[in-house]
Amino acid sequence: MHESETPETTHEWYAHSFDALYPIIYAHRSVEAAVREASFAARELGLSTDDRVLDLGCGAGRHMVHLQGRAVSLTGLDYSRALLNEAQRHLTAPASLVRADMRALPFANHTFDAIVNFFTSFGYFEDDSENLGVVRQMAAVLRPGGRFFVDYFNAEYAVRTLDRRSTRVAGGYELRERRWVDERAQRLNKVTEVYAGPAYEDTYYESVRLYSPRAFTELFNQAGLEITRFHGAYSGGPMEPDRDRMIAIGRKR
Ligand SMILES: C[S@@+](CC[C@H](N)C(=O)[O-])C[C@H]1O[C@@H](n2cnc3c(N)ncnc32)[C@H](O)[C@@H]1O
Repeated sequence: MHESETPETTHEWYAHSFDALYPIIYAHRSVEAAVREASFAARELGLSTDDRVLDLGCGAGRHMVHLQGRAVSLTGLDYSRALLNEAQRHLTAPASLVRADMRALPFANHTFDAIVNFFTSFGYFEDDSENLGVVRQMAAVLRPGGRFFVDYFNAEYAVRTLDRRSTRVAGGYELRERRWVDERAQRLNKVTEVYAGPAYEDTYYESVRLYSPRAFTELFNQAGLEITRFHGAYSGGPMEPDRDRMIAIGRKR
């Protein structure tokens, strides 16, 4: 594979890469690790027990677990059956879990007071208009004045510190990871080959759009969503070159 090319196999990669192995490969993204993140989001959104909240790209529901009881209703939406099954196991209080594609949200306009979107659950689609389409969907299902919290990666930091090749072990699997930037498409790509001992198991692709804070602001603006501030980490504080997150918080006009 040529390093500057996005392999064709990344097309619709998101339909395969979040299967039952995902919680094993990303075991450090645990329910426990999510406590601080969910609390930060709740605080930044000024969440109240009157709020109807959507966790867009909820995965295994690890943030929903901590948002339970902080909202009058909590809905998690994801495309992965495997992760939604995990979410069902994690949740102890009533919450609604919906399998759908974030490009076509199956909710009426103005259904939610707040939307959370944790850990780079955005920017997946090769066609920029589809990523804009997701933001438009978010805007449609938020009530006027509704708030959003989108936790994306700091592109500048990610490119500057890119570890092109690494190997690690997780859950008994050896994971051979390769990362590269596709300059033309402005995407950060990753391929993970999974081995169980000497036996090859599977290959997972990830590909996300590189957005500067300015590009993110413009994208959201186009959909009628105003980003009012950015944070660079879950400890709060501004985005800076050595902070790895781009957390966008704002409201629908
Ligand atoms: C990086 S994971 C993060 C999951 C969760 N927010 C967390 O922090 O654990 C991204 C999530 O987006 C979901 N996803 C990917 N493509 C999607 C799509 N087209 N529609 C809805 N969800 C999608 C994946 O299944 C996965 O659960």
